[in-house]
Amino acid sequence: MKTTIRKGANSLPLNEILPGDCIEVMNALPEESVDLIFADPPYNLQLRGDLHRPDNSKVDAVDDAWDQFDSFKVYDDFTREWLKAARRILKPNGAIWVIGSYHNVFRLGAELQNQGYWILNDVVWRKSNPMPNFRGKRLTNAHETLIWASKNEAAKYTFNYEALKSLNEGIQMRSDWVLPICNGGERLKDDNGDKAHPTQKPESLLHRVILGTTNPGDVILDPFFGTGTTGAVAKMLGREFIGIEREEKYREVAEKRIASVRKFDKDALRVSTSKRAEPRVPFGQLVERGMLRPGEELYSMNGRQKAKVRADGTLIANDVKGSIHQVGAHLEGAPSCNGWTYWAFKRDGKTVPIDVLRQQIRAEMQ
Ligand SMILES: C[S@@+](CC[C@H](N)C(=O)[O-])C[C@H]1O[C@@H](n2cnc3c(N)ncnc32)[C@H](O)[C@@H]1O
Repeated sequence: MKTTIRKGANSLPLNEILPGDCIEVMNALPEESVDLIFADPPYNLQLRGDLHRPDNSKVDAVDDAWDQFDSFKVYDDFTREWLKAARRILKPNGAIWVIGSYHNVFRLGAELQNQGYWILNDVVWRKSNPMPNFRGKRLTNAHETLIWASKNEAAKYTFNYEALKSLNEGIQMRSDWVLPICNGGERLKDDNGDKAHPTQKPESLLHRVILGTTNPGDVILDPFFGTGTTGAVAKMLGREFIGIEREEKYREVAEKRIASVRKFDKDALRVSTSKRAEPRVPFGQLVERGMLRPGEELYSMNGRQKAKVRADGTLIANDVKGSIHQVGAHLEGAPSCNGWTYWAFKRDGKTVPIDVLRQQIRAEMQ
């Protein structure tokens, strides 16, 4: 069967849930068209028989048809095909996240590497409220693993380092994330009050992934959409999504869920950026624009040195000429110096760092 896809103006079916097998659907999408793929594929749990709690109630385990594969070989063939289809539609600087448990994550990781994806991190999602091990024969299985990989080694993938650091109260985000499983009001229920889907992922997990590795407006594709957690969080965060899901009942649940999601306003979506990502302002611009005059004196913030501004945006101090950085470094006898934080000027008797003028210009550029 050939899959046909209704496409929007930019030739991608944005913010839609596409029915069908994800391999066929991805193969029908344009090459190099999506920024990020988030994939939560079947686990291939290989459950044998029912599992009961100590009170004899049956555990609601993942025993659905979509999780059944006859052998590891069949699962590996499936993995190879969908990862290949995913790689074709990723933009050159695109990236993928896959999530799995011990049953399948090693197979996913090996195939990612076989295909030339470049693994950037594996993240352990430590569940703060895992299901106990009812039989007491193994450790409580309290985590899942996510693998984050770029399309290839040279890809300039998106990583919002500062945004994740801010999310973590100013401390670098680590690769172990402690988050609860999806429970309470977030857990979608069917008409009988049962779980609408056995493996609905928490929105907090997707929030971290999407905030950290995409930008507003990016296209995120999820080939195993389920209840549409990826779509719901993408919409909130102002990203575009494409979902693919084979089962109609899950597509219906996801449609309804996403329709009720409110997109955050533009200001709320702006995240912290690194200093390096801010637009470059040459010191000469301050002189050209008359913010500092040729001949004006600058003073080092430590009060020990001074230099004169020249018409071409260089400084002169005694016999040394050069950029704000070079002159600062020479005067301090240091290998390097950040002139922007080293130098200040005087206005109305006050000492003002020259960086204030740079910030003024940057604010105009926004
Ligand atoms: C692990 S669940 C994903 C759950 C999802 N992350 C969520 O938060 O709801 C995997 C989903 O993939 C779907 N699926 C399995 N094989 C598929 C295939 N070949 N093509 C499309 N969907 C498939 C299943 O129906 C199931 O809903």
